[in-house]
Amino acid sequence: MTSFPLIFTVAIDGPAAAGKGTIARILAQDFGFAHLDSGLLYRAVAVLGGDPVAAAQRLTAADLTRPNLRSLAAGQAASRIAVIAEVRAALTDFQRRFARQPGGAVIDGRDIGTVICPEAEVKLFVTASPEVRAQRRWLELGGDAAQVMAQVLAEVQERDRRDMQRTESPLRPASDALVLDTTEMSVAEATSRAHAAISAALRRQK
Ligand code: CDP
Repeated sequence: MTSFPLIFTVAIDGPAAAGKGTIARILAQDFGFAHLDSGLLYRAVAVLGGDPVAAAQRLTAADLTRPNLRSLAAGQAASRIAVIAEVRAALTDFQRRFARQPGGAVIDGRDIGTVICPEAEVKLFVTASPEVRAQRRWLELGGDAAQVMAQVLAEVQERDRRDMQRTESPLRPASDALVLDTTEMSVAEATSRAHAAISAALRRQK
């Protein structure tokens, strides 16, 4: 028998615009788990402005619903403040508690399987080529012709470089992560592979 309450974390990491959020939302809905897009925390800290450490320490749920958090500029600003150890430390407890809440949780970000919740029952690393990711982000932003693809690609690559090269919790796959390269994989296929991994891990808990 599965012991209740169920403590079960699905950690999803990967580079910008790889489709982590889409997969995370579907998995959370299918399994009835809570979902946290941890990138929103960093985006909200950046958009609040002022001293990023103070902003991270006083972040509230309402800050996560601010407009423009999804913009390219907010993403760039988020990756700049995300290199600061004190900012990351201020956001750690909330993410850890979310990950281990009763009933199961899916969290997507950069360091969930490596730093926030290395004990996660399932770890996924979702990636795709920079070109495909830039195309997806461009469409997500409305496919505005004025926002040229080349600019979106350059920003995605700059952010990836910063996220991978930082000293604090750099972006990298956990050694036990299931890597899903979605360059030529549909959302349905990626989700179905993740489903299989989660179902197998849930069976092991019984
Ligand atoms: O949606 P997208 O993948 O483009 O970005 P995001 O997940 O919203 O994250 C925005 C930025 O926040 C990233 O480029 C990282 O620098 C930072 N971040 C982080 O450092 N750690 C996390 N767990 C999540 C985001």
